Amino acid sequence: MKINITETVLRDANQSLIATRMPMSDFEPILETMDKAGYYALECWGGATFDSCLRYLHEDPWERLRKIRKVVKNTKLQMLLRGQNLLGYKHYPDDIVRAFVRKSVENGIDIIRIFDALNDLRNIEVAVDEAIKAGAHVQGTLCYTTSPIHTPENFVNLARQLEKMGCHSICIKDMAGIMSPKEAYDLVKAVKEAVKLPIVVHTHCTTGLGPMTYLKAIEAGATTIDCAIACMSGGTSQPPTESMNYTLKQFGYDAGLNEDVLKEINDFFRPIRDKALETGLLNPVVMGTDPDSLTYQVPGGMLSNLIAQLKAQNALDRLQEVLEETPRVRADLGYPPLVTPSSQMVGVQAANNVLSGQRYKNITKEIKAYIRGEYGRAPGELNAELVKKVLGDEKPLECRFADTLEPGFEKAKKEIGDLARSDEDVLSYVAFPQIAEKFFKEREEREHNTVSYQIRKVD
Ligand code: CO
Repeated sequence: MKINITETVLRDANQSLIATRMPMSDFEPILETMDKAGYYALECWGGATFDSCLRYLHEDPWERLRKIRKVVKNTKLQMLLRGQNLLGYKHYPDDIVRAFVRKSVENGIDIIRIFDALNDLRNIEVAVDEAIKAGAHVQGTLCYTTSPIHTPENFVNLARQLEKMGCHSICIKDMAGIMSPKEAYDLVKAVKEAVKLPIVVHTHCTTGLGPMTYLKAIEAGATTIDCAIACMSGGTSQPPTESMNYTLKQFGYDAGLNEDVLKEINDFFRPIRDKALETGLLNPVVMGTDPDSLTYQVPGGMLSNLIAQLKAQNALDRLQEVLEETPRVRADLGYPPLVTPSSQMVGVQAANNVLSGQRYKNITKEIKAYIRGEYGRAPGELNAELVKKVLGDEKPLECRFADTLEPGFEKAKKEIGDLARSDEDVLSYVAFPQIAEKFFKEREEREHNTVSYQIRKVD
């Protein structure tokens, strides 16, 4: 039986281990080789890559995608999209969501994995619809979490809705690496019985369960798994591509990967990983196994963010307390799965609760918006006292937050004016206004300097 392996080193491994700080120039030389490995897809865009390109790497994210597409001719390119949040942290109007999805496909994306942090499927409908129209492979997503609300029946019901929406496959996305082999087996079986679509399983090694979880998921009928090349695997990243390929082969599955090419890829990324360790960009803590996450459910990206945040506030010694506060905040909020943006929101609030010495003394504006219903419907009941504290007599939102937003593309286009050179630029601006504007200005300056330098040379 054929099993598809998607390589995540360019996106999720990069995001989970080194906060998405790998510049294009680091991995550009290996792309042609990666195209020959036999991967089902390269996950290379979306998630935090967009933000990181503009904010830290001085790269145009769209250009990165086009450059990858130009070299990777045979392997599918995959992105992760946060539904109505796109690649940002708030909800955008529908016209922006449609434009963003269309442009992602136009610039080279084949597979769009679309999720909503709360599994409120109203928040992915528009993106799914547009991605289908644009001819992409649309992967509807179930964000996996455990709570009294998140029963197998709940997930099966969501999977049925994804099938009805027209998704081409279903991803069970375990962003925190907490799905045990048994849970994976039972859930994949249940979903497979309920829907006809291929099932993809995505996990992380955070708790050490990852490779076993994949094996049992495949035994239950999953056909695609996400892995990371060995030197960028493990810990908060994905299970290693090579070891999964090796294991599957022995059990008679065919992952279709070329082992010599995998070795070449691993040899290429090892010095990049070593450099990240040397500079401290890669904290060895995130490469270990942390069974505590089974209790705290903190996904990889969130853990490295929390560490960075506490370090900046000189409070890294409070990490344990913050980790213990995280599930309490989550319960108060009706058990949202912890994935961007809810992971950041819950993490920051948990840190506030610990560092201020009093729970909900400072409530972040994101948590207030969440309680107003601006992120969607919470999976479970919210803590009534907390709701009262935030809302008073106000009623939470019934409709999608996006239904309260005016169309935004044309307005943004006017606002940014000549600094944007394409619709893609306008979308970067919509996603991260100040950062994109700064990026555009620096781009002008860079080019101006190059031009004047050339003129001087001619003189
Ligand atoms: Co992930």
